[in-house]
Amino acid sequence: MKVEVFLSKGITKINVNDYKPLMKMNFNGKKADPKFIKMREEKINIDETSEGIILSKDLGVKEHVIGLGEKAFGTERRRTRTVMYNTDSFGYGYGTDPLYVSIPFFISVRDGLPSGLLVNNASSIVFDIGVEDYGKIKIEIPENGSEFYIIDGKTIEEIVEKLSFLTGKPFKIPGWALGHMISRYSYFPSEKIIKVVDEYRKFLPVEAVFLDVDYMDRYKNFTWSESFGKPEKLLKEMHKRNVKVITIVDPSIPVNQKYGPFMRGLGNYCDDENGNIYIDSMWPGRCAFPDFLNQKARAWWSDEIKRWIKKYRIDGIWLDMNEPTRLVDEKGVPLDPDAIHTKDDGTRVKHSLIHNAYPLFEAKATYDAGVKFILSRSGFIGIQRYAAIWSGDSVSSWEDMRLQIPLLTGLSISGVPYVGCDIGGFSGHSDAELIARYYQMAAFFPIMRNHKIKGGNDQEIYVLPDKFRGMIQRAVRMRYAFMPYLKELAKEAHGKGHPMIRPLCYEFQGDENTYMIDDEYMVGKDVLYAPIVEKGRTSRDVYLPKGKWYDPWKKESMEGGKWITSDNEMPLFIRSLKGKERILEALSEIRLDSNS
Ligand code: GLC
Repeated sequence: MKVEVFLSKGITKINVNDYKPLMKMNFNGKKADPKFIKMREEKINIDETSEGIILSKDLGVKEHVIGLGEKAFGTERRRTRTVMYNTDSFGYGYGTDPLYVSIPFFISVRDGLPSGLLVNNASSIVFDIGVEDYGKIKIEIPENGSEFYIIDGKTIEEIVEKLSFLTGKPFKIPGWALGHMISRYSYFPSEKIIKVVDEYRKFLPVEAVFLDVDYMDRYKNFTWSESFGKPEKLLKEMHKRNVKVITIVDPSIPVNQKYGPFMRGLGNYCDDENGNIYIDSMWPGRCAFPDFLNQKARAWWSDEIKRWIKKYRIDGIWLDMNEPTRLVDEKGVPLDPDAIHTKDDGTRVKHSLIHNAYPLFEAKATYDAGVKFILSRSGFIGIQRYAAIWSGDSVSSWEDMRLQIPLLTGLSISGVPYVGCDIGGFSGHSDAELIARYYQMAAFFPIMRNHKIKGGNDQEIYVLPDKFRGMIQRAVRMRYAFMPYLKELAKEAHGKGHPMIRPLCYEFQGDENTYMIDDEYMVGKDVLYAPIVEKGRTSRDVYLPKGKWYDPWKKESMEGGKWITSDNEMPLFIRSLKGKERILEALSEIRLDSNS
């Protein structure tokens, strides 16, 4: 086994067996002695087996492990065994693994000292954090070579910042995408969308509306169904109201000689083992799949997207089913692992080895077409350069609603700052209380979008009883009061890769209690939010880490380092009041419901 080590600015790169990674990281290090392979003082073992490479290290009794991207676990990822393999996870819940996004990166914190580890490999890596062996972290890589990085730093923030330096800065999110957005599978036809938006706007601001698959002619990308109505009129009406329009696009391209995009894309699809176009089943029927790994294919896709957004003045693109997914017995499963991609240098590679990187290159090709806002379901290391992520097809339940906090903050600290979830939950029934509390929980999620499955109950504010309308209005007003702060955080995310929402331990890494807290989150450095996420509750216990806190509703200051009980409708605590005068003034105009 050949092991090479390179060092630069607190980052160590390790290459095993001359591995040539698919993605080049932003790193230029000096060659060093292999004895440097350790996280803090703990040695990392590298073993070669017939199945691939295994990295391992001791897991300390009090060591915390956080990160690992989008995972359906609590903030603390200790005692989990997860695989990195982007998967359509309809109806997932706590413990479902894997989900849609794969980020093979974690941060370990021991005695208050953090250290990060990133594996630059797009195949199905397994992270075993003290499950198989209670005292070990084990990473199984199914290839005979790999590249990985150890990131040192004094704070968790420093590590996330260096991760972002390696993998690329988040794109610049437009201000409107931080506002309230609406979606439905599917608002149909276009006349209905105008009505929905107008009804909504009687109660809430609406910055954007998402068009789900039914706007298309039989699920064909870049087409409109005739019965949907004239797209030009819809776009005009929306833009008149200053509402942006975002259309869904799936990677599947129906094999049909009368379909322009398919014909123009010939030569740019994945192959099967015999060198023919790889064809599999998706909603439009028999489909080909763009080979986004290839520059020529990306250029063709960019042209298709460019033509589409220019012609209709589309404001954003929603990339779905891009794990990528095909249908087997009507269920979404990953593409055939034996499908073949052709890299730019002409080498051919099996899909299973690059699976996780597919959505990244799809997002890149879409972004390069000049799209200002992309919302993607799937992703990989670096996805933050091109797209925001939402957490896919959740279930409308209190448990799954609560899960969104550690799931999204975990993704945030893995380098992906713009994140959100389907407010209300995607499948299953959401009652008015759940919808209202969902809005309140997501009040500071970078992406705030209501979305629901076809045939599911309506979740629009105007169909709900007064009491719950009020709760939603107050949640959205609170968000808009903080909009200048959220915009600052978005700027910080774009500039330094810092997450906008954070688990408490990100700010208080030396406080052991914070690693156990999954139902509170930090918004930037200064705001701690503890939404009410249980049915029927009107108060809750809140853990306030050490420091001075200010409750803007009660206008009271308090000392942290303890648990308190809050009966505020939306328990909110601010650390530093500097520069927040405008926010506090806007908040003081919101009248909370004292017995919501
Ligand atoms: C997938 C998406 C969901 C969308 C549906 C129809 O399930 O995750 O958001 O509504 O497809 O396009």
